[in-house]
Amino acid sequence: MYGLFRTARRLREIGLIGIGERNASYVLRYNPRKFYPRVDDKLLTKQLAIAAGLPVPELYAVVREEHQIADLHDKLAPHDQFVVKPAHGSGGDGILVISGRRGDKYRRSNSLLMSRGEFEHHLSNGLSGLFSLGGQPDHLLIEYCVQFDPIFDQVSYRGVPDVRIIVFLGYPVMAMIRLPTRMSDGKANLHQGAIGVGIDIPTGLTRRGVWGTEIIREHPDTEHSIVGLQIPHWPELLQMAARCYELSGLGYVGVDFVLDRNLGPMILELNARPGLAIQIANGNGLGHRLAKVEALAEAGGLSTDPDERVDFSRRNFPTLG
Ligand SMILES: Nc1ncnc2c1ncn2[C@@H]1O[C@H](COP(=O)(O)OP(=O)(O)O)[C@@H](O)[C@H]1O
Ligand SMILES: [Mg+2]
Repeated sequence: MYGLFRTARRLREIGLIGIGERNASYVLRYNPRKFYPRVDDKLLTKQLAIAAGLPVPELYAVVREEHQIADLHDKLAPHDQFVVKPAHGSGGDGILVISGRRGDKYRRSNSLLMSRGEFEHHLSNGLSGLFSLGGQPDHLLIEYCVQFDPIFDQVSYRGVPDVRIIVFLGYPVMAMIRLPTRMSDGKANLHQGAIGVGIDIPTGLTRRGVWGTEIIREHPDTEHSIVGLQIPHWPELLQMAARCYELSGLGYVGVDFVLDRNLGPMILELNARPGLAIQIANGNGLGHRLAKVEALAEAGGLSTDPDERVDFSRRNFPTLG
């Protein structure tokens, strides 16, 4: 009992926030409902990012109707690799990362082959909303398959890591990189079995990680250390994240990036209800950082300049401990 009490006090001390607090004090308070479609529909997010001059993976095709599926084999012939995803998907559900072909078949990132029939069946399920929020019929995006930066070769199992930055009132407050594992099938979603590794905001250096409920320092498949890696293009990532405040109109938003070895950082998606495991990955809570930005707001000190906001975050939000 005393132990539990001590743990609760320690969690409060490091400023850990829970789902209830996130929803009541941040999501509901700072995210106007009318802007949700901007982040819940990945096609709309992509269009907004392009309009704002922010890089995204190139769109190859949009599938809205069942009859368009059969034509895809020809339409996608010029692309050896590509990714299929439901516009309203989440948590990596329904995403197909196609890494090559063998004759008529498609090779998935987990190396399993998929026949044309299986491929069409998967897309048909996607259109019907099987993988999407609320189970409503959806449209599918087919896009460029990101070629990840070799810096992550040793710490990713056949997939693309992504960098998540939480942005509050335009200020980057916390970051992590998510690394695919054998379990996560080429995807970087924590619930699919990927690892979350905390990133120090001032330096862009990785700290320790979390895999399920386990705190880790090595990648479970490759055994390579995940601590002390320098995230490439770090200042640029922070700046792009800060600009997603204006792009989305959301006060509390998670911005997900991928780092392409040739094309550099690209925005993958935005999230209006970003998860809280990022706190465990960093061993730091969000509470104190969010309070600091709120204090700035109360003092009338919020900046409209993304660069100024990044400077503030780099001075104020080191990962402690
Ligand atoms: N264009 C892409 N190229 C390579 N991998 C991708 C691409 N899009 C998504 N992925 C992989 O799938 C994961 C989930 O994709 P994302 O667009 O974030 O959808 P979700 O909302 O389901 O999380 C990403 O974290 C990444 O690992
Ligand atoms: Mg995602």
